[in-house]
Amino acid sequence: MLARMAPIIDATLRRALLDFFDAARRDLPWRRTSDPYHVWVSEIMLQQTRVETVIPYFERWLERFPTLDALADAPIDDVLKCWEGLGYYARARNLHRAARLVRERYAGVVPDDPDALRELPGVGDYTAGAIASIAYGRPEPAVDGNVRRVLSRLFDLEDPTPAELRGIAAALVDGPRPGDLNQALMELGATVCVPRAPACTARPVSDHCRAYAAGTQAERPARRASKPVPGRDVGTAVLVAPDGRLLLVRRPEDGLLGGLWEFPGAEARPGESVVEAAERAARAASGADALPRGEPLGQVAHIFTHLRARYHVFRFELTGLEPDSLSPGGSDSATGTATNPQDRAWIAPGELGAYALPRAQQRIAALALHGR
Ligand code: ADE
Repeated sequence: MLARMAPIIDATLRRALLDFFDAARRDLPWRRTSDPYHVWVSEIMLQQTRVETVIPYFERWLERFPTLDALADAPIDDVLKCWEGLGYYARARNLHRAARLVRERYAGVVPDDPDALRELPGVGDYTAGAIASIAYGRPEPAVDGNVRRVLSRLFDLEDPTPAELRGIAAALVDGPRPGDLNQALMELGATVCVPRAPACTARPVSDHCRAYAAGTQAERPARRASKPVPGRDVGTAVLVAPDGRLLLVRRPEDGLLGGLWEFPGAEARPGESVVEAAERAARAASGADALPRGEPLGQVAHIFTHLRARYHVFRFELTGLEPDSLSPGGSDSATGTATNPQDRAWIAPGELGAYALPRAQQRIAALALHGR
């Protein structure tokens, strides 16, 4: 195999990137500070999530958990509630665990060493490099999806390996203002060097862009064929007690949406209808043997990263049954819903706001309460 030519990285490219950043940087809340805790929270929230979505969550988070100590002291339910709607909830659980670890191991000071950072739950190569460079000014690379695209174009690379990109990024930030250089690459990827129709006439960086010079920017980097996203049909049960209370169950700690609350639901098995699946989930969660027919309320669709879920929602009115007389139920591995007493709650509709519910479940609640 031919050895690839090493890209030219010099002070003029760094200068162009920093000039771009100084002129075009957006005023974002986490850029008004270099507090490592703030930088860390922002970088975790920004994984897979757009800047505009993150801003209000970031601000609320710092009001609720202004310091690492405040986060470490908080119960997990408060942490999940504050993250509610942002998605990828493992990020919130990891931040919480990591805050406790930082307090135990490092006396509450976020480490500046990328190896130590990488040992924290939820912190990978990218986040370790971002925190070390932005909060502590260390010359560490931070390559996320945007930076991959920017570097592939700057150096006209068709399908660079992660190691190759890290090598280039490490050489690039080995100069003054490494945190700003990393953020310049991120900013360029978010605002100028976007996936489709990049604004290449924006200078000064395009003067250094080899893909632009060669006219290959639209093909850099090569797109990987995307796998089809499997679909999942879930029968969801809104169980209504005679006094109007609704049954929520808490998902197991590990896995998709771990620790969040939801209406009982089960994926329809082969040959099983969605209403039968909803009934099965309703029985497992409530312990009720006899259930009335489920009344269809509608559907809610939600796309997770690797999964397209359709929730088919049915209402089950428990006339004549007192919830307190319902058996506590066990754990039903077929539905994946834990139904230990502490993981189920009969709640008044007005109490829904006190529980961390994923976005799709909030829409299910709206469907059940307001018909939309
Ligand atoms: N995406 C990831 N980190 C970012 C940052 N610090 N600023 C803007 N966008 C980002």
